[in-house]
Amino acid sequence: MARVNRVLSLPFVLFCVSSFLASRSFSGIFSTQKSQHKVRPSRVLRRAEYSTVAVPGATGRLGRFVVQELLKDPKVEVLALTRNVSRAEEFLPVDDRITVLPWKPEDEAGAVSALSKADAAIWCAEGRQGLVALGKAFASRETRPSGSPRVVMCSSAAVTRPTWSEKQKSQFSGAADIPIVRLNPGGLLDEKRATEKLLRQSGASYTVARPTGLKDDWPTGRPLLSQGDVAVGRTSRQDLANFLVRLLDEPKATGKTFEVLTVPGYPKPLEYGEVLDRLRPDAVGPVATAWSRVRSWFGGQQAATYGVLQQLLPGEEQNSAGLAMGQTYEQYDKKEEGRLGPRGAERVPETLGSS
Ligand SMILES: NC(=O)c1ccc[n+]([C@@H]2O[C@H](COP(=O)([O-])OP(=O)(O)OC[C@H]3O[C@@H](n4cnc5c(N)ncnc54)[C@H](OP(=O)(O)O)[C@@H]3O)[C@@H](O)[C@H]2O)c1
Repeated sequence: MARVNRVLSLPFVLFCVSSFLASRSFSGIFSTQKSQHKVRPSRVLRRAEYSTVAVPGATGRLGRFVVQELLKDPKVEVLALTRNVSRAEEFLPVDDRITVLPWKPEDEAGAVSALSKADAAIWCAEGRQGLVALGKAFASRETRPSGSPRVVMCSSAAVTRPTWSEKQKSQFSGAADIPIVRLNPGGLLDEKRATEKLLRQSGASYTVARPTGLKDDWPTGRPLLSQGDVAVGRTSRQDLANFLVRLLDEPKATGKTFEVLTVPGYPKPLEYGEVLDRLRPDAVGPVATAWSRVRSWFGGQQAATYGVLQQLLPGEEQNSAGLAMGQTYEQYDKKEEGRLGPRGAERVPETLGSS
């Protein structure tokens, strides 16, 4: 009898743990309803928390777009870090708000001192040494009042795939059997995985975005986020740059790692808070396996699919549960009433299709 009790208690304990976690960090995963009356902290207020943003790798193909995006806010100044000033002259616009800062990532003290001049940073470079210096430069900085990250790291999709079991590789062969993972030239995915880990351990407040293959001529659209490192596809550098800059204003991005690709043609959401809220924080790591088992018992697959499909809603507000009958997503975005009246007081027709 005692044994039966022990056996029965395990799922019960896991259920309690899952309910507790679901009510905290994972509220979005089990939630199937969105509040219509979302209270969104103003992005303008969050931006007031930083004025100088460092961009290591600013001369690179992504870095240049990131600099352009940052300069769209007239209050922001950019520290463009480069190992080669002539590349800055060649690739960056002439602008009083850009300070080109030559750096040597291998000179840690000099790199930390250069990076410490900034309030936040968007990493668009390569290499372990520079990222270590970045982590050190921001480790002792106080948390931003909004909780938004100080360091946004552009990493890469697929970094965990070399570590997958054979079973995982065959189950998700479309993610594991792609050229970059099969060949993993110079162990670059392992190096990036290790570099991400160093940032997580640095004590700096961070977010890690792992894009799929970057393209300059992929039509612009909407970033789509996922976890589990199964994303494959293309990412527009321009959209990614816009997204990385937006992450500086997203408290729900802090302490999380996720993949991103871009879907052409879709308008960008007004904000990413809700989709980021559904993502698992990195700190959950040690119980992640137990957690994913619990989730699969309680509809994890459905929740994950829901999380992806909600990102493919038309419009910018992304709130299907806020629509009135007869109201289009576009009308909802413009706060226009639909043809059948406001939500909750719709003049429902006898037959659908008539007004
Ligand atoms: N290309 C893809 O398909 C792809 C896919 C997923 C993720 N990513 C990642 O996205 C980021 C940006 O990619 P991108 O295509 O824009 O790269 P990119 O054009 O090669 O630019 C990277 C920049 O980083 C700097 N850099 C290179 N090695 C460095 C080192 N060891 N230490 C410090 N700085 C270094 C260089 O600038 P300076 O010479 O001026 O210092 C370079 O301009 C990279 O982290 C890349 O790994 C790329």
